[in-house]
Amino acid sequence: LHVAVLMGGWSNERPVSLMSGEGVATALEERGHKVTRIDMGRDVAQKLAEAAPDVVFNALHGTPGEDGTVQGLMDLMGLTYTHSGMVTSVIAIDKELTKQALVPHGIPMPGGRIVDTAEIYEKDPLKRPYVLKPVNEGSSVGVAIVTKEGNYGNPISREAKGPWKEFDRLLAEPYIRGRELTTAVLGDRALLVTELKPKSGFYDFDSKYTDGMTEHVCPAQIPDEITKACLDLALRAHRLLGCKGCSRTDFRWDDERGVEGLFVLETNTQPGMTPLSLVPEQARHLGISYGELVEMIIEDALA
Ligand code: DAL
Ligand code: MG
Repeated sequence: LHVAVLMGGWSNERPVSLMSGEGVATALEERGHKVTRIDMGRDVAQKLAEAAPDVVFNALHGTPGEDGTVQGLMDLMGLTYTHSGMVTSVIAIDKELTKQALVPHGIPMPGGRIVDTAEIYEKDPLKRPYVLKPVNEGSSVGVAIVTKEGNYGNPISREAKGPWKEFDRLLAEPYIRGRELTTAVLGDRALLVTELKPKSGFYDFDSKYTDGMTEHVCPAQIPDEITKACLDLALRAHRLLGCKGCSRTDFRWDDERGVEGLFVLETNTQPGMTPLSLVPEQARHLGISYGELVEMIIEDALA
């Protein structure tokens, strides 16, 4: 096959996407496919038209790339591409729209609401502790945990009034104590549950992409009831949102509250494919190599 691997772009997750794209492109070449690597710029339509691939492997993360814009462009161009389509991407990139799509179907998600930057600097939007996050970023870009003692992550600084300016919309959610879990869905199958144990206590950008900063326990050492609930919720979220190919649903679990303490945070339609990423890791535990995983995502797109 001739596969165009779309990567890079200009989102805040550009470096992550370059790592995902590199991994995917190398694996495809090793498996004998012809690969055109495209670092997405404003001329992406021209590059895609010139390449005229059999299929596009979308290895973009963040906005744009994971938000439906590129998917819409590829739809117009009549290209076949991996992962979710335009409408699903528009909804899933936005953590507030995701809640509106999933909560009415009984998917448990944390409460909270959209706040504006002025409100954050002038008063506390929610009872502490709470989490403040841009509605449409990935890899924990811009996320802060605001506690009574202060805040962790993107600092709230009245003087600087800086960090959140670049984000249009912010979501404040109650902080859920306890544990960080994630489940991949591949095709129509929920894979496993991984628990993330960041050494810093916060699973932020650095903990996600620096080797040794987070322990991954896969499969997670949690009660069967919680494992079953994660697999079920990840698959339901994938289907309700209309995801394709591959997705990954992230959870917080308050382990003092049993299954009542399990909350979906979001579903990622373009989960990371870097060497430290979680979907390749879960696949590997099930005997699916990285190359086979890439091939399965492509087969799903072509089906
Ligand atoms: N946003 C990153 C790439 C992930 O979900 O894995
Ligand atoms: Mg995400």
